[in-house]
Formats: sequence, structure tokens, C-alpha cells
Amino acid sequence: MTEKRKWYRGKWKTSAEIAPLVMEIINKVTRRGIEVKEEGNEVSFFSYHPAHLWEKERASLEVQVELLLSLFPDAQIKCDWEEFYEENWQENWRQYFRPQRISKRLIVLPAWEKYSPQKGEIALFIEPAMAFGTGTHETTRLCLKSMEALYPLETPQSMLDVGTGTGILAIYAAKLGIRHITALDTDPLAIEAASKNAALNKVSHLRFVQDTVNPEVGQYDWVVANLETKIILPLLNALTQIANKTLILSGILTGEIEKISSVLDRPPRKCLTEGEWACLII
Ligand SMILES: C[S@@+](CC[C@H](N)C(=O)[O-])C[C@H]1O[C@@H](n2cnc3c(N)ncnc32)[C@H](O)[C@@H]1O
Repeated sequence: MTEKRKWYRGKWKTSAEIAPLVMEIINKVTRRGIEVKEEGNEVSFFSYHPAHLWEKERASLEVQVELLLSLFPDAQIKCDWEEFYEENWQENWRQYFRPQRISKRLIVLPAWEKYSPQKGEIALFIEPAMAFGTGTHETTRLCLKSMEALYPLETPQSMLDVGTGTGILAIYAAKLGIRHITALDTDPLAIEAASKNAALNKVSHLRFVQDTVNPEVGQYDWVVANLETKIILPLLNALTQIANKTLILSGILTGEIEKISSVLDRPPRKCLTEGEWACLII
């Protein structure tokens, strides 16, 4: 029998002028994307929340929506919540995950696509389950592109992936040829999804651990962390100390670069951006 997991769906209705701001708030809180249903004078969209995070995310959204309404008292923001089960969610989301060409050499595809890579090309097959990281998000693409550009210059032997989600970055590292790879995530569902994706991509020498960065994780040539600025900041010291060669930090809004670089012990070597997102190579 298939195990079903509980989720909550936020069914939002807002006036058109406020919709982008509400979506931005939801994206910052959940980082799972939004499903837009109807656009016009009134905009309807859905947000998605795993049951174990729902209370916390809902509370955070309510505080921020209240603040928004105090700034825009004529705006309308309404949200109805409903619970549903993973099986259906996966089916719905399958239609939104399309193959993503990251670079000339790298393509990310849904697990159910058929594709034969050309010579020299790397194809990553990802079953997102409930984890973040399909290559459709700018923050993931920036990490993949940084890894591709740096690999031939640094040929790292080891990598720590902090916040692995679907495992996409760790699996790519294995495909590039990095031998010792550990991938951490605090979310047990991510660890489960990442382990399955590693098997799907036929890479076996990765270690997935439900944990965050701590002094016991050891030293790695590369440390890659696609998190959020508010999560990165308290971990920054540990992250810089465990990276022997390079630290790749993503999930940073361009407006937040200064917050990170002002507390680094050395200036970033490079900063790549895509839209409002930045990735620092340190
Ligand atoms: C934005 S996703 C990145 C997923 C994937 N690495 C990618 O680049 O697409 C961030 C992941 O970090 C995990 N996470 C959040 N805080 C964390 C922490 N303190 N330590 C480890 N993982 C964390 C989340 O559960 C989530 O899976």
C-alpha cells in the first residue's frame, strides 16, 4: 500500500495590486513556489505546506500579511486552508516540472522523462517528492553553474552539500567526479528523497545524513550551501572553517549580499546573479 503524507494547501485570493507582494512573502517563507490559478482584478493562487511545518509557516505568514495590510489597508488578502495527501500533490506537480537545460553540458530532467545524454553531456534525473531542488529555481541553477565552472580548475576530492533537498547538487558532484560526498538536511523527507534520487542516477558513494553543519562533520574541499540568508548567517563561521578550497553560498537575495559579505573573514572571489538571487563563491 502506498504511504500517504499530509500537506496543507493555502488557497489565496488577493486584489491584483498586492498579489506580487503576497507571493514574495510566501516564497520567502516556504521556498516551494506558488501555483497561480487565476489572474485578473482578483488573483488566486495556492501555497503548499508539509503538515509538520504548517503551524510555523502559517504563523509567520499571518504576521507578515497583517503587516502588509497595515501598509495597504484597502487591499484584500484572504486565505482558506485545506489538507490533502502527498499522492495527489505529486500528480499535480508533475505537470509543472519540465526538463531544465542548465548549461551546454548539463540538463536536469524529471525522473519520468526518457532521455539519452549526448557524449560528454550530464543528465540528472530528479524525482522531487517533497524536497526542494529540481533545477527550476535560480538558486539551484547558480550552484550547478558555479560547480561546473570551478570543477576543472580545482578538481576537488570531497564536497559537503548543506541543505541537500532532492540531492541535486550532491548527485551532480558525484557525476562530475568528486569522490567523497556528504549531504546534510534537517528535513527527513529530503534525506529520503535525496537517497532515492542518488540510486535513480546510479551514484552510490554519497552519504546522506539528517543533520546540520557541526564541528564533527570534518573538512571538505568544497562546501556548497543553498540555504537562506537567515539560515546561512548563524552557520557562516562553521561553513567557512570546514571549506578547504571553496565555499559556494546560494539562496541569497541580491539585496542581502552585504549582510553576508560584511561578516566574512575574506571578500567573496565571485558573485553570480540570476534575477533577484545571488550566489557567492568564497
Ligand atoms: C533551498 S533548499 C536547497 C535544495 C538543493 N540543495 C538545491 O540547491 O536545490 C534548502 C534545503 O536546506 C534544508 N535546510 C534548512 N535549514 C537547514 C540547516 N540548518 N541545515 C541543513 N539543512 C537545512 C531544507 O530542508 C531544504 O531541503
